[in-house]
Amino acid sequence: MPLNKDHLYCKALRQAITAAGATTPLKEKLDALARIVSRCFDTGTAIALLDATGSHLIHTAHWRLPPTFVQKGLIDVGKSLNETASDSPVFIENAAKDNRVQYPSAAVKAGIVSILGTAISTDDHKIGALRVYFKRAPILTAQDTSFLKAIAQLAGVVLSRQTIEVKGEVTVEADKPSRMVKFAHASEGEFAGILDFYGIPWIYEPRSFPIGQKTKGTPELFTPDFYLPSLDLYVELTTMKQSLVTQKNRKLKALKAQYPEIKITLLYKNDYEKLLAKYGAGPLAESRAHGVGRILYSAAEIDQRVRDIAQRISTDYAGRRPVLLGVQRGFLCFMADLIRQITVPMDLDFIAISYYTGAEEPAVKVTKEADLSLAGRNILLVEDIVDTGITLNYVLNYLREKKPSSLSVCTLLDRKARRLVETKLDYVGFDVPDEFVIGYGLDYHEEYRNLPFIAVPQIKGPDGAKSEALNPKPETNPKQ
Ligand code: IMP
Ligand code: MG
Repeated sequence: MPLNKDHLYCKALRQAITAAGATTPLKEKLDALARIVSRCFDTGTAIALLDATGSHLIHTAHWRLPPTFVQKGLIDVGKSLNETASDSPVFIENAAKDNRVQYPSAAVKAGIVSILGTAISTDDHKIGALRVYFKRAPILTAQDTSFLKAIAQLAGVVLSRQTIEVKGEVTVEADKPSRMVKFAHASEGEFAGILDFYGIPWIYEPRSFPIGQKTKGTPELFTPDFYLPSLDLYVELTTMKQSLVTQKNRKLKALKAQYPEIKITLLYKNDYEKLLAKYGAGPLAESRAHGVGRILYSAAEIDQRVRDIAQRISTDYAGRRPVLLGVQRGFLCFMADLIRQITVPMDLDFIAISYYTGAEEPAVKVTKEADLSLAGRNILLVEDIVDTGITLNYVLNYLREKKPSSLSVCTLLDRKARRLVETKLDYVGFDVPDEFVIGYGLDYHEEYRNLPFIAVPQIKGPDGAKSEALNPKPETNPKQ
């Protein structure tokens, strides 16, 4: 007896309910739902969830869709179907011509003619969309759309139930499609953890850029690992040996030439391990410094530079009584010397924040608030060093919420080479090269803060062998 549609949909719903109730990870449940819909409509299906900013949809589960289509680019909620703004499903009959389709040519290339999308909601807010992609314009009945809505509703239940399951807290996993990403390398997961900790939204592999000549066969693709929407920045993490990155550099060059409008940063293995070491993780965290390597800035040089900065600050803040605000603990020497050279009335305060230590703590927090009231004040933030800028970005966002009348940044050291978050620095002592530094308040595993000068530490690995691991020069001296 041939199954009619009622039977088909009933059977599919039973399967979907079974998948939803199973004790499998969330991602697997969503995969199963996408697969079931795909089977019923005999075509490609995707579940895309809103990112933390609510402005992009991220493909979280998909079935029978070509990878180039899935990674066609960032999906802007407003520019694409916009089913999350509606209570009923959105049907696009001709994807090539409809201006509600953000990437019409990608759809054409993938052979997609029509699209049916419906919102996924938890409680009363929309969190994503379930989409079906047709190769031929379908004749849809109320039964078809009602089935799709039922699966979307189930996806919503699955996602909201996950919320409650997390230790009874409201750590909304649904808000972090990130958690459902299958990373190609563990290092990418760790990097995502750092970004999560500092509240920087990210999307994993959202876009494949075709590079090279289009004439010969299929073009080469470059898929950056991350996109950080709040910074409008792509990040490519390369954990390959230094000697193997030439190929990647070539691709990156081609990408930059062909897409000059995009911002992309490449983090080499060394950069990345240095970043991890700063948080006490990764292979370099095991190494210990055994003394001072090379002095970068002598006490006299620092003294002169601090005087210059203090003079500028005294001029700029005449009649404005700044609050010089330090972030524990590296600012200490710099602050102490700086304020003694400042000639205008001022206030002094400091805050402390927690640091990334792996997965234990979900997010960075301020562990010591300022004692002074900062509303309406002229805050001058005093930092030891700005490296990636991630810490500074967090601290500035925090301080902006205090509604100061002005907010400026003074840093003793600026290491531009590894900057991820670009921020205006108003007063800078020295531009430091891409080397880890110690002394004058800066530590290496809490040591060396008391040196009166700034230096590069001499690093020895866990085996006692001397290594320059923290300070390699990848461009001129490939290690492996
Ligand atoms: P960012 O968030 O990557 O900009 O890192 C800033 C913080 O990392 C600084 O406030 C320092 O505490 C620490 N840091 C970064 N680079 C160094 C260094 O070379 N020596 C010591 N501490 C550093
Ligand atoms: Mg600091």
